[in-house]
Amino acid sequence: MLSANMVELAYLLAAVLIIFALKGLASPETARRGNAFGMLGLGIAALVTLQMDAVQNYAWIVAAIAVGGLFGGVVARKVPMTHMPQTVAFMHSLVGLAAVMIAVSAFLDPVAYGIANAEGGLYMASRVELFLGTFIGAITFTASLIAFGKLHGLLSGQPLTFAGQHLLNLLLGLVMLAAGIMFCVTGEMLPFMMMLVIAMVLGVTLIVPIGGADMPVIVSMLNSYSGWAAAGIGFTLGNNMLIIAGALVGSSGAILSYIMCKAMNRSLFNVLLGGFGGDTAAVSTAGAVGQRPVHSGAAEDAAFLIKNARSVIIVPGYGLAVARAQHVLKELVEALLAMDVQVKFAIHPVAGRMPGHMNVLLAEADVPYDIVFEMDEINPEFSDTDVVLVIGANDVTNPASKTDPSSPIYGMPILDVSKAEHVVVIKRSLAAGYAGLDNDLFYMDKTMMLFDDAKKACESMLQALD
Ligand code: TAP
Repeated sequence: MLSANMVELAYLLAAVLIIFALKGLASPETARRGNAFGMLGLGIAALVTLQMDAVQNYAWIVAAIAVGGLFGGVVARKVPMTHMPQTVAFMHSLVGLAAVMIAVSAFLDPVAYGIANAEGGLYMASRVELFLGTFIGAITFTASLIAFGKLHGLLSGQPLTFAGQHLLNLLLGLVMLAAGIMFCVTGEMLPFMMMLVIAMVLGVTLIVPIGGADMPVIVSMLNSYSGWAAAGIGFTLGNNMLIIAGALVGSSGAILSYIMCKAMNRSLFNVLLGGFGGDTAAVSTAGAVGQRPVHSGAAEDAAFLIKNARSVIIVPGYGLAVARAQHVLKELVEALLAMDVQVKFAIHPVAGRMPGHMNVLLAEADVPYDIVFEMDEINPEFSDTDVVLVIGANDVTNPASKTDPSSPIYGMPILDVSKAEHVVVIKRSLAAGYAGLDNDLFYMDKTMMLFDDAKKACESMLQALD
């Protein structure tokens, strides 16, 4: 068994590895290495914890690892990439639930956790830690379950609003805080349980008014909450590793939420208080979608355009992920490069359904990183580009975000594809994207619509190029 000093040293090493992991995950080029660092860090932390004196029953731990590992393995293999956001939301709910269960068990047997005096009275500092860990964990648990339900289509993605909603949330929040403070003062069961139950209700009432369009920000916010819940419980358990890892997850999730809000031109405050200002809902205008004439063409026409272009920018979107067209797209890019056509990819920060979705797809197909550009880098280049190939993307190219102040996406920065000489849009129909909006880009004179599944269209274009 390692001495206490060795344990702390190993935890420190694990924490440094996790910081390297986060650093690595900041770029697709280093993401694999980052993942490896993270796995190594968490592996060290788990092994060091398992050999500690406090661990008395390995049977339960092995059983839990077997059940959790099997479940996680099956989920990782079976869940399609397009269902990743709801899977992540579900995982966050488990972190919240774990925090709550540890807090309840520590409250019920504080002596075993070393957080009480000889008479069993909880220390004041431990009461505050339990209060924070429990209510953040409980909100994370139920809010993540609702987010999972909305993203998976089990619940309506539309915001559920009613009169007095914000007042109700405020009241619930105040009563929960009052119960928490009462618990900190008295250390009794009743205020502890009241705080726990109200926090669970609050998790539901805070999330129901948030529309589908803002769900990505919420998932990332819940990621942040789950980190803070873990950090709070780390204090209760006196475990530095949990405190550091929880704080890293908490702060990186908060930074990601801020970046996403900026990319979608949302105020974080409005998103969190769903329904405030009335700009958070994904508005469906399905009735008005696809009512105007468009220029449509065949894969051969698109192939002719890109083959004769000097420069092509490809804008991938959610449809690329649905069609799993990334591999054939890579072949198409190789064919164009071999014909001396300059090819670049333009990535919008919220293209697809999760942060970095498009980067992951392109990395999976081994598309070289040096031809993949973020929105801010590539936007000035569209006006100098011969052909833009929009593949399964919609909202992230919608000019309404610049021209229509009444549009729900007004103000969201977009990829300036309409500035290119020609635009080819590959999608199956004129159907709306995630935000439920018609897209003026499809009706422009310079735009050719290629109505097909993205994979089939890329295969046909590749054939036509050959
Ligand atoms: P969307 O606006 O959702 O448009 C995707 C388009 O892909 C649809 O219009 C659909 O049209 C087409 N499509 C679907 N399956 C296809 C297939 N098999 N082949 C070809 N096309 C197909 O996607 P986007 O432009 O990537 O924008 C993302 C949207 O999702 C934004 O509104 C964003 O706010 C939101 N969002 C983002 C995230 C993150 S963090 N990335 C998370 C959740 C939500 P057809 O049906 O006509 O083919």
